[in-house]
Amino acid sequence: MSKDLVAESLEGVVAARTVLSDVDGLAGRLTIRGYPVEALAHRAAFEDVAHLLLDGFFEDLPPDLAPALGAARLRAFAETAALDEGLARRDPVEAVRALIARLPDGEDLNTALLLAAAPAVFTPAVLRVAAGQTPVAPDPALSHAADILRMTRNAPASDGEARALDAYLVTVSDHGLNASTFAARVIASTRAGLASAVLGGISALKGPLHGGAPGPVIEMLDAIGTPDNAEAWLKGALVRGDRLMGFGHRIYRVRDPRADALKAAVRQLAQTSNALPGRLVFAEAVEQAALRILREHKPERPLDTNVEFYTALLLEALGLPPASFTCVFAMGRTVGWLAHAREQLASGKLVRPQSIYVGPRTRQAA
Ligand code: ACO
Repeated sequence: MSKDLVAESLEGVVAARTVLSDVDGLAGRLTIRGYPVEALAHRAAFEDVAHLLLDGFFEDLPPDLAPALGAARLRAFAETAALDEGLARRDPVEAVRALIARLPDGEDLNTALLLAAAPAVFTPAVLRVAAGQTPVAPDPALSHAADILRMTRNAPASDGEARALDAYLVTVSDHGLNASTFAARVIASTRAGLASAVLGGISALKGPLHGGAPGPVIEMLDAIGTPDNAEAWLKGALVRGDRLMGFGHRIYRVRDPRADALKAAVRQLAQTSNALPGRLVFAEAVEQAALRILREHKPERPLDTNVEFYTALLLEALGLPPASFTCVFAMGRTVGWLAHAREQLASGKLVRPQSIYVGPRTRQAA
């Protein structure tokens, strides 16, 4: 095989057929099972979008997923007995991943629902135990989003807050063959099981070039502090060789449509918040400065706002700590990983690309 055929980082390589989501990077469009992401984020509950994604991949999928997901949250909660303070004080994504690793592998609906519920239940438990508090048991009668906030705070969330988290979970539920979904599909193709696929997905998601960016977005906003400091701070970061978190994307050459879906959710939430309107104005000023500076810095490479920028603002406004943002991303994306894993299994094929050997040709053993 010629070395010229190596597709470094698989850019431009098509590696799966999917009915789940369509990412049009040139037009800046994302559709999930045919529905524009903006419309789903505005109107749909997470349970409905989870159903939309899993539909056709499990014969016994109930028509209303809310009670089954509520019951799965209760089943997942039993696993938090294994959570001690030492584990809870680790990076939350590492602690949540360790708890997921305790779940049994399988390819059936019960396994899938337990895994779909796992990050939503484990993350609040990890945050609470790390703060010296006891985990709060799920209320299966609540919506998934409302229950996540209640388990985190030990107090009910307002309808507006639950709606904002719903919009977020829906927005990030699936996104083509991104790095974590590809990892999950590769693992599923070996028939290792759904828990293994989800563990691979969350491990890939953890990196700052993928799902680990929104925490650093908050650090960036806090370090900038005031709008008039934005230009100097951002230019300094680029001079140091840093990347501006929340900007750029492998597929989108225009603005990430999820950024607008989440900005709309932040605006909605700001109507009932004292602090959020000011934070939003500040973030918009930083965003405009960053876009201007990135255009000067890399005129040949369109770098626009990605999903993580307004994710950071939304999750911060919901009182979730930045260290938990990747786990909250996993709460939404796990149903996407599960649907892709089942879709990959249905194809029956092992994913197994090739490499080109570029080391020394022959060596004598000593
Ligand atoms: N800030 C500054 N420079 C950037 C940025 C950025 N945010 N993004 C890309 N560039 C530059 C790179 O340094 C590179 O420059 P070079 O050619 O001189 O080395 C050039 O643009 C191309 O970058 P690549 O890394 O080759 O492009 P890729 O498609 O792999 O990058 C990525 C996509 C990883 C998201 C990148 O834009 C990035 O690191 N962004 C910041 C982190 C971030 O926001 N991640 C969340 C992504 S959304 C998600 O996964 C859910």
